[in-house]
Amino acid sequence: MEGIRVEGGYPISGEVTVEGAKNSALKLMAATLVAPGVTTLTNVPNISDVHVMGKVLKFLGAKIEVKGEHELEIDTSCVDRWETPYHLVAQMRASTAVLGPLLARFGRAVVAMPGGCNIGARKIDMHILGLEALGVSFEVDHGSIHASTSGGLVGSTVTLDFASVGATENLMMASVRAKGTTTIDNAAREPEIVDLANLLNEMGAKIRGAGSPVIEIEGVEELHPTNHRVVGDRIEAGTFIAMAGLCGEPVTVKGFEPAHLGLVLKKYELMGMRVVRGPHECTVYREDPIRSVDIQTLPFPGFPTDMQAQTMCLLARGDSSCVITENVFENRFMFASELQRMGASIRIEGHHAIVHGVKGFSGAEVKSPDLRGGAALVMAGLVADGITTISDIHHIDRGYEGFVEKLSSLGAHARRIELPQEDYLDI
Ligand code: UD1
Repeated sequence: MEGIRVEGGYPISGEVTVEGAKNSALKLMAATLVAPGVTTLTNVPNISDVHVMGKVLKFLGAKIEVKGEHELEIDTSCVDRWETPYHLVAQMRASTAVLGPLLARFGRAVVAMPGGCNIGARKIDMHILGLEALGVSFEVDHGSIHASTSGGLVGSTVTLDFASVGATENLMMASVRAKGTTTIDNAAREPEIVDLANLLNEMGAKIRGAGSPVIEIEGVEELHPTNHRVVGDRIEAGTFIAMAGLCGEPVTVKGFEPAHLGLVLKKYELMGMRVVRGPHECTVYREDPIRSVDIQTLPFPGFPTDMQAQTMCLLARGDSSCVITENVFENRFMFASELQRMGASIRIEGHHAIVHGVKGFSGAEVKSPDLRGGAALVMAGLVADGITTISDIHHIDRGYEGFVEKLSSLGAHARRIELPQEDYLDI
């Protein structure tokens, strides 16, 4: 079992380039199913979630060639299955993103039910209700969802209860081949939605309005393969920016659009950070103490839930008290209890966290609770007194390529280490 060992007190500074967005790459890979042939994706991050999506596509019959470090050639011409097994969906819930594309291609799909996960129930009822409006029937049998259409997909208007990223994506990917026009009302507006719409349009789809709350999709007869570059990862960028804000020294983060982190950067400026925005990059540093500022997570363009833990880590060193409200996922404060073990003062009340700034963190053995929480614990270790050892780092590997290497190149004293197996007492 591997862990990350961080020696505190070595601030990061310099330049770092982020990879393509995990949350985009996974859906773009799934979308290749709608256009039989070879689609080339570039700027694909080399992370374990991408490997799992690769396994899903191969299981369905696709051939994948890795060309260079970040380029995938995905040949979906010989895909002849429409079933996604539980062992893959259980590894990564985003595997459910193949539901829409399989329906577009075959008019049927069988996807194992994802079940709960450690950041909340994460249901897929909105995916199902939306697809039902397009003429899909669902049955649940032996733990899998069986989806089929009798007369093919038919365009319709779908109003989502909540601007769900996954539901918007599945509906977009299904409706590109529906008869007539589909309107998604209260659609998610995340940059990854726009990236997916761009790929589908490059394949010949007719999608208008992606990035706004109303998306219109005019169905087409067929789609063709294409080449596409994955948008830069705003959350990886935000993680390094938060780290720079915590340590104080200047860090330039390249390879993403600062506009995709609009509200995060504004809040960080209110917290006392200096942000110099450039094309596809920004430089951040901090000279004053961190000011405590309230935060609430919301769908884009609101404050991203995927930046909540990193921001909590900053605010835990704030000059007074503040409230963080999590509106997107239930049960996403697990990171707080690990940070408390490092000396943070945080009280959880339902979906609010009341954070009182403390002067310092002390290094400890902590467990990564999830992907972003794990990264935020490494972040806390950078300024903690002594050594912090983070275990369960497979969560971090799901979404950050070369995390420790990038931190080391910025001057952090961090390395991956082999952790002793846990001792079990036989009583
Ligand atoms: C995606 C991102 C995740 C990010 C989240 C919100 C990927 C792989 N993951 O997750 O990193 O944190 O967007 O920006 O892209 N919900 C329902 N029913 C549904 C669908 C969702 O109740 O049918 C609920 C979820 O349980 C959650 C909320 O809606 O509480 C938001 O979920 P959603 O926007 O769908 O997030 P994901 O697509 O799962």
